[in-house]
Amino acid sequence: MRIDIISIFPKMFSAVLDESMVKRAQLKGKVKIFTHDLRDYTLDKHRKVDDRPFGGGSGMVLQVEPIFRAVQAIKKKIKGKAKVILLCPQGKRLNQAYAKKLSGCRNLILICGHYEGIDERVRQYLADEEVSIGDYVLTGGELAAMVLVDSLVRLLPGVLGDKNSLNFESFEGNLLEYPQYSRPAKFKNWPVPEVLVSGDHRKINAWRKLQSFKRTRLKRPDLLKQ
Ligand code: ADE
Repeated sequence: MRIDIISIFPKMFSAVLDESMVKRAQLKGKVKIFTHDLRDYTLDKHRKVDDRPFGGGSGMVLQVEPIFRAVQAIKKKIKGKAKVILLCPQGKRLNQAYAKKLSGCRNLILICGHYEGIDERVRQYLADEEVSIGDYVLTGGELAAMVLVDSLVRLLPGVLGDKNSLNFESFEGNLLEYPQYSRPAKFKNWPVPEVLVSGDHRKINAWRKLQSFKRTRLKRPDLLKQ
């Protein structure tokens, strides 16, 4: 998979791309991630990427031209098709099923919106999809892009060491994850459920399934309705 990210704050991404699992996935060759400074696609000496909105109003709007040039330049470098995604609060809300679908794409180009808005023509003519990470407004699309990248990369085959860690995690089959415990078995008066130290794997699996269901019903009943 290849992911290209267009942003006016490309340095923000090192926090996620140069650490932990996403870094390891890149080192293993499972994903190639490139960040692009939107200002590199401007033609004026001030490297201007925004302007005032037509019709008046407060704030500045990210302009369509540099974004268009960035997308074109990236598409030229990519062999094959690329899906262009605009991160914005109006987009389709990201969930595990959507992350899984996007993780099957060969090439993604992520556009991070900013300021008070982005020229509507980016949405109309450049973006194939709009993605939101939740019903709240961030100062820009960068954090949303990082969330998206993290959620996708961990789903790529061979990225997580243990295949089972994907099978039983939260949201698989619309259920939350069951409770987990580790050593020591005895700590203060905070007991570990006996079944987990029983060694009976049939019972353990049944207990875990039931706990997943109970938790989901208690904490996220909306998931069961889906
Ligand atoms: N940009 C600002 N807020 C956002 C959100 N909630 N999701 C995606 N991009 C955003």
